[in-house]
Amino acid sequence: MARHQTEILIIGSGLAGLATALKLSDRFEVTVLAKEKAISTNTSWAQGGIAAVMSKSDSFDQHVQDTLVAGAGLCHKYVVENIVRQAPDRIQDLLKWGAQLNVNDLTREGGHSERRILHFEDHTGSHLQEVLLQAVYKNPKIKIIENTLAIDLILNKQLNPWDMSSTKCVGAYVLDRSTGSVDTYQAQEIILATGGAGKVYRYTSNWSGATGDGIAMAYRAGARVANLEFMQFHPTCLYHPEARNFLISEALRGEGGELVNSHGEAFMKKYHHLGSLAPRDIVARSIDAEMKRTGAPSVYLDMSKLAKNFIETRFPAIHEKCLSFGIDMSQQPIPVVPAAHYLCGGVVSSVSGETDLQSLWVIGETACTGLHGANRLASNSLLECLAMAHNCAKLLTEKGLHPISSGTPPEWVHPTQKDDDEMIVIHHMWDEIRNLMWNYVGIVRSTKRLLRARQRLKNILLEVKENYSQFQIHSDIIELRNIAIVAQLSVECALKRHESRGIHYNLDYPFPSLENETILSPESPAAPGQDTILLRGLFSS
Ligand code: FAD
Ligand code: SIN
Repeated sequence: MARHQTEILIIGSGLAGLATALKLSDRFEVTVLAKEKAISTNTSWAQGGIAAVMSKSDSFDQHVQDTLVAGAGLCHKYVVENIVRQAPDRIQDLLKWGAQLNVNDLTREGGHSERRILHFEDHTGSHLQEVLLQAVYKNPKIKIIENTLAIDLILNKQLNPWDMSSTKCVGAYVLDRSTGSVDTYQAQEIILATGGAGKVYRYTSNWSGATGDGIAMAYRAGARVANLEFMQFHPTCLYHPEARNFLISEALRGEGGELVNSHGEAFMKKYHHLGSLAPRDIVARSIDAEMKRTGAPSVYLDMSKLAKNFIETRFPAIHEKCLSFGIDMSQQPIPVVPAAHYLCGGVVSSVSGETDLQSLWVIGETACTGLHGANRLASNSLLECLAMAHNCAKLLTEKGLHPISSGTPPEWVHPTQKDDDEMIVIHHMWDEIRNLMWNYVGIVRSTKRLLRARQRLKNILLEVKENYSQFQIHSDIIELRNIAIVAQLSVECALKRHESRGIHYNLDYPFPSLENETILSPESPAAPGQDTILLRGLFSS
């Protein structure tokens, strides 16, 4: 077992982690952990782009308003204002780090009243990931360590049980995947930038590591989580037996693509006056309804109104990917289905990433700041990563770091017993959770289905706990424990919300109501507001 020390520990190498590292490296020494390769992130998969007010015809007020409308009454306006108003400066940061974004070529996506999405062709995310990684590799103050999977956070009381001060995070236990040893990383400030949790669902647009680790770790350590019922389903993922997790960007609809059903009928106007460019929750539900009505396994995105040449130059990656499956999108409609895409809830945090625990910060998709409310506006999440990174670095630079806690974390103790048969059981549990979340906690919910999910998850969690404590630790069981906890927390959040709002739609409560808007959180000044569902202590390891 190795012991590491650093001033700032950032867990995650996506846009949130790398932007925070670059901003902090002016003053501090930073270590960044990535559970696989540094490039393996949801960031790398982002397609559409980043929202920012860049044109004369647009305004901050309009961007704020579009975000609030999409968020269906649960956004925190001061957070939205803070993030939207700094967007042009954050774009300048990206340009300074080497990104090639054409500020005059703005595209449009669902829910935006203006063209305000900056993009790099149709693979903005992989471009940004590459650019920021290059900047990080050149920076002597940042050390990036791949194949390091954080298991749990270390708290001050684990260093000294007689420490009566408030709970403070002092580091993390981390599995070194190349050696199998569990090492400790101690730091003055710990920043979770671990991304989302799409893998909790059977069908998702997310990369394989999106298992909600940061949310589960923070929750186990005692931080509140909020709004986990708001899993956003992207309306259009490629439907093909061999295509796993491939997104068909909303920008295609922004440029004129139209959704049609299996009979070739454009159906979206039936559901919303904005047609195919309606907000994401409405499009996903309409597709779901249309598939159920026609009995077809998918709907289609028709790009035939656009010139072949435009399609090939504007959407080269998507065009090529579709061709690899025998679909020429300039000639034939693309089969698409909705899939779990973005978790609007997360660890309760301020707009600078502060959490309930001292020295624990959270940035990016892992956080719940109040920007997205009950439904995220397209292309606001990359922006949130950058704005939070900036705010967090500014605050830490102004306030200075907490002193390093004295004492040594206890060694990680875990059974060394291996059981290959158990691996099969673990894989079954993965499938069971992901299937039940898709079937019972999906686009359209009911109380009966949610209660069924709660009951099944209760039993699965007992089995996970048993497995976790009896066998040698490895990444599959660590991630399984995390998806199980995030699934359970999502179901509890969904059951508490006795209304339909944004992306949470329950047949038993089909309308929005004011009922759930006054849940109070008096315990913490970091809590962003009064309308979030807060959970703590359902499952401890
Ligand atoms: P990620 O980029 O997912 O990075 C997470 C990091 O955490 C990884 O390095 C991972 O290794 C690390 N990690 C996780 N757990 C652990 C652990 N236990 N130990 C160590 N490391 C860990 N948003 C937009 O605004 N515009 C778009 O166009 C857009 N398109 C998208 C397209 C797709 C297909 C997807 C999936 C998402 C898209 N999004 C888009 C959403 C956006 O990409 C993400 O919300 C954003 O990139 C999240 O960044 P992040 O840094 O928070 O997390
Ligand atoms: C997309 O390109 O459709 C994804 C945009 C987003 O999730 O913000």
